[in-house]
Amino acid sequence: MINLVDLRRQFQSVKSEVLQQVAEVIESGQYVLGSKVNELEAKIAQRLGVTEAVAVANGTDALVLTLEGYGIGAGDEVITTPFTFFASAEAISRVGAVPVFADVDPVSYNIDPVEIERKITKATKAIIPVHLFGQPAEMDKIIELAKKHGLLVIEDACQAFGATYKDQPVGSLGDAACFSFFPTKNLGTMGDGGIVTTSDTDLAERIRKLRTHGTTKKYYHDRIGYNSRLDELHAAILLINLAKIDEWNQKRRELAERYRQHLGGVPHLTLPAESDHSSHIYHLFCIASDRREELMKALLEAQIQAGVYYPRCLHLQEVYAGLGYKKGDFPIAESLSEKLFAIPMHPFLQESEQDQIISILKQKGEN
Ligand SMILES: Cc1ncc(COP(=O)(O)O)c(C=O)c1O
Repeated sequence: MINLVDLRRQFQSVKSEVLQQVAEVIESGQYVLGSKVNELEAKIAQRLGVTEAVAVANGTDALVLTLEGYGIGAGDEVITTPFTFFASAEAISRVGAVPVFADVDPVSYNIDPVEIERKITKATKAIIPVHLFGQPAEMDKIIELAKKHGLLVIEDACQAFGATYKDQPVGSLGDAACFSFFPTKNLGTMGDGGIVTTSDTDLAERIRKLRTHGTTKKYYHDRIGYNSRLDELHAAILLINLAKIDEWNQKRRELAERYRQHLGGVPHLTLPAESDHSSHIYHLFCIASDRREELMKALLEAQIQAGVYYPRCLHLQEVYAGLGYKKGDFPIAESLSEKLFAIPMHPFLQESEQDQIISILKQKGEN
């Protein structure tokens, strides 16, 4: 089977370092929020050119703690895309605020700034653009809108570690940004993890407090918080993977280019477009086709995994029925949910495997 991602191959490529580091952490007796987490936070902050990085238990918590850290809650609205993983909106609901959706751009699949502006009300407090599939959202226009209306911008960079927008790394563009280290993410660990990056020192302090039960001094609590800490084992693994991330992202970009060379122009297939002012890291390589089911079936028969991202837009999720949206409200996002699917993309995909994928898609697309 040729998989969408191949974590076993990834592990093999770093096996000796990981086993050595894991053994060191186990020997150290320090397991939660220790020196490895501190080192990871410092390295990520330095890499992104921000002053603060706060490691938490997962990407969803990174969003929840950031929203709560900014005091966003009941009575507030936060604008985001209906075409993303559920957690982007779930975090907004979790803090008691209302997710307000704005349709996406048909070319980048990212939230459309023109649609955002139409959704701003007196209750809007923040915008959460998602750098979907590894491609940065249109940040200049989003930040301009935010400034004009006095809103916060919280980047959901969970799928985009290492991507750049106008030569600036994602995670350094908004007021704060959230990353996920879920194993299948382009920068992942062998379990759950996440981090918030920001240059807002006060926000970082509030998030540090929130992640440890609302405490700054042990056993003294001045607010209700969470248990949302990163383990030393994950931080140690992430430090190893962080040292590889540019190489791995570059490999993804090369594979994307190869897909583009061989699949460009094939009927019934639309390849992901890359904006000329940003660097996409292809966390996922999603193609659009009006013959999605047929193509996915052909791939599966040839032992090639494919996956639909995302089969149902967030405004049409059962849990959001009460928000009053209906089918047809976001035609572009809805059309993408009917046409897009991901084909294998990871730094360990071999060219011979990619050739098999290309050959099936060409054969099916042209007939
Ligand atoms: C866009 C997006 N936002 C948020 C998350 C949540 O991250 P996590 O699974 O680490 O909680 C994910 C990934 O799962 C994601 O893809």
